[in-house]
Amino acid sequence: MIIARTAAEMDAVPRGSRRAVVMTMGALHEGHLALVRRAQELADQVVVTVFVNPLQFDEPEDFERYPRDLDADCALLEPLGVDVVFAPSESEMYPGGEPTVSVSAGVVGRVLEGAARPGHFDGVVTVVAKLLHLTEPDVAVFGAKDAQQVIAVRALVRDLNFPVEIATAATVRDDDGLARSSRNVFLSQAERERSLVLSRTLFEAQTWADAGASVDEVVAQGRAALEYADGVDVDYFAALDPADATEATGDYRGEVVIAVAARVGRTRLIDNVTTRIGPPDAAEGETP
Ligand code: PAF
Repeated sequence: MIIARTAAEMDAVPRGSRRAVVMTMGALHEGHLALVRRAQELADQVVVTVFVNPLQFDEPEDFERYPRDLDADCALLEPLGVDVVFAPSESEMYPGGEPTVSVSAGVVGRVLEGAARPGHFDGVVTVVAKLLHLTEPDVAVFGAKDAQQVIAVRALVRDLNFPVEIATAATVRDDDGLARSSRNVFLSQAERERSLVLSRTLFEAQTWADAGASVDEVVAQGRAALEYADGVDVDYFAALDPADATEATGDYRGEVVIAVAARVGRTRLIDNVTTRIGPPDAAEGETP
């Protein structure tokens, strides 16, 4: 496994016939490894980037506290057969400190998670743009768990004409349904049990949609189910248009991301499922 620490070292890595990138901030867990496996299905050369991006943190203390252990990350990646780890320093990525020119996530960056974390998605799309330039992949794989991040990255690639395919890997869940997250370690046993109401409500939302409920009904039923959940302080439960993260309401038809964010104790959790409102378009069922 090659470890490249500078843009020049990354540039010198010989290309496979199809290169995939998985972008991470390190502190790797099973969710990241699932992204790597997905990348290996899609390409013959996999690059994993490890960079804790200061631009996407709202609180400087969170950035300072963020766990950094490249050796531990590499020890997880090497047995999987990852080809390259690109782990640039902060001064390599941002030699003059905060960049003069950066990318805006537009409306995607201002709603839901973006409203809770102002500037976060601008920081994400800026670093993703840089990492795409530096690693030059054919395909980049992101976790479906961060649904709004996926929407922001797809918008970046579409609106700024990046020649890369964006793929997603399904959310990895524990047997009880809890979505894997590096934040789960902060949950006490009681909080962990309480937090299961989030995934349970999302799965129920899928069944309501399958049974023909409108998007407003799905959202209203989901909010009602969460309203009295003990010890769970819901920030939002919403249906999003996967094209631009605007809220899907009224007579919306088609694919939606049902997303939830809630604080359980001191831990903020997010989760989502993708479902469909209304019957599939006739054209979707046709065989060519
Ligand atoms: O999902 C993450 O870990 C980060 O937001 C990403 C995509 C690596 C950008 O820093």
